[in-house]
Amino acid sequence: MKSSRIFMVLFISAMLFLLAGGLVFAQDPAAISGEKCKGCHGDIHAEWATTRHAAALKTLVDSGHAQDFCLACHSTDYILAPQGSKPTVQTAQYALTCLACHPGDHTAGGSAKIENIFDTCTKCHNGTSGGTRPILPGSEAHHPMKEMFMGEGAPEVSGVPSPHLPVKDCTNCHVEGHKYTATQAACDKCHGGKKTIEAVHKEVLPKLDALKAVLDQIKAAHPDWNPQAQTKGDDQKAYELAYTLYTFAASEGSGGVHNYDYTYAILAKAKDALVKVGLAAPEALPITGAELVNLWPYLAGLAGVALVGVGIRKRMK
Ligand code: HEC
Ligand code: HEC
Ligand code: HEC
Ligand code: HEC
Ligand code: HEC
Ligand code: HEC
Repeated sequence: MKSSRIFMVLFISAMLFLLAGGLVFAQDPAAISGEKCKGCHGDIHAEWATTRHAAALKTLVDSGHAQDFCLACHSTDYILAPQGSKPTVQTAQYALTCLACHPGDHTAGGSAKIENIFDTCTKCHNGTSGGTRPILPGSEAHHPMKEMFMGEGAPEVSGVPSPHLPVKDCTNCHVEGHKYTATQAACDKCHGGKKTIEAVHKEVLPKLDALKAVLDQIKAAHPDWNPQAQTKGDDQKAYELAYTLYTFAASEGSGGVHNYDYTYAILAKAKDALVKVGLAAPEALPITGAELVNLWPYLAGLAGVALVGVGIRKRMK
């Protein structure tokens, strides 16, 4: 009886030892830092080293307002450490190394192959911390790329999924090696030269700039507005909504390419909010040609079939 209990204790200790050993093994610092990968993938490592992924920890710390939770998207040792032993802003060592995106070390029995590119990139490239912090009017949205693609999350704007949703894998357009630069050549593969980054930017960027200029003027004219006030006038509320919508469309970074239609819907909503309370003259915001084309009822009527859904399409031109 006694010896079998001793055996059990020894057995459990041995299992714990192996488990702990396994954990230490999975946490091989040279794999986390990328040094191990560099040994065989030197060219990829060299290219990666020039990107902002490789500088993400420094950018965070230099920003001056880093908090530990920020590391969830800015540091690989934080991401890979088990709950309870996460590093802090002071102790985190690495930026976004290979294992920030690749699921494992294939030389240690794992697979390095990324199965789902959209999900991998949008773990970090989202504006709601993975759906846990909704973007509220008055707040500043940060790079909501995922939300822009899905066409959701901008306050008070109804959903418009991207026409690019069927090709949502980021590397369809961000083709340039591990730099992930989006190039015109990538668009040409699908659009044969008919749609260009330049043309989309020419249409969207001036609209963003005009909205920014109007928002700056309004803010300067109302130094009395307190963002923390319990009760706010309709004009202040409209300003705060338009401000958040601007930061949503501007900080997602593609100038309309990720979701042309939702970008338009967001700009149109911001304009509408400001014009309604008299904070902006319609002609101050060149967001014109708004055309709400509601095709489905029309087509369904023509075909004489039952109306099953309503598709709303907002067109830029
Ligand atoms: C001992 C050399 C060696 C080391 C160390 C190494 N690799 Fe590889 N890796 C290879 C070879 C060889 C291939 C297959 C040829 C190719 O695609 O370059 C490969 C393929 C890959 C692939 C292609 C997808 C796949 O798995 O089929 C990925 C991704 C990858 N490695 C990532 C990594 C990462 C991340 C690390 C560091 C944790 C790493 N490798 C460390 C040699 C190595
Ligand atoms: C673990 C979090 C994380 C993942 C996963 C991630 N990114 Fe990033 N990405 C960031 C951060 C943080 C920055 C900005 C870093 C900085 O400025 O310091 C960034 C920057 C970028 C940039 C600007 C790069 C430059 O050098 O100018 C591009 C483009 C980009 N990411 C695309 C992607 C793509 C495509 C994927 C998926 C293949 C991806 N990211 C996966 C967090 C991530
Ligand atoms: C949900 C993931 C995520 C979290 C959490 C996060 N970031 Fe980022 N951060 C990113 C991504 C993605 C980028 C790259 C955006 C781009 O280039 O479009 C970025 C970029 C940055 C940049 C570069 C400049 C800029 O604004 O693009 C700074 C500075 C930054 N983050 C600071 C912070 C701080 C401070 C926190 C915590 C308060 C934080 N981040 C939390 C994902 C995140
Ligand atoms: C921002 C995310 C991200 C980071 C960081 C990253 N990779 Fe990749 N890598 C990808 C994606 C996406 C692919 C294409 C899908 C795949 O093969 O898994 C890829 C592909 C690869 C491949 C296959 C061959 C090729 O060139 O397509 C290798 C090898 C590789 N990566 C190694 C590395 C190494 C080594 C590092 C660190 C120095 C690294 N990666 C950092 C996202 C990333
Ligand atoms: C249909 C093509 C396309 C797809 C798909 C796409 N992007 Fe982009 N993205 C662009 C274009 C074009 C730009 C603007 C590039 C420029 O201004 O040079 C851009 C800009 C960005 C930027 C800002 C670049 C920078 O240097 O700061 C980031 C980050 C980014 N995209 C991430 C992503 C992520 C993450 C995904 C997948 C969820 C994705 N993109 C999918 C076309 C695309
Ligand atoms: C993998 C294929 C693919 C790539 C790469 C791609 N697109 Fe698209 N794009 C599509 C599809 C599919 C649609 C939806 C059908 C359509 O409108 O043609 C679309 C639609 C569009 C639209 C019309 C949006 C609307 O609502 O009318 C624009 C503008 C556009 N793409 C620009 C670009 C630009 C710029 C790039 C390069 C950065 C790019 N696309 C890369 C497949 C692609």
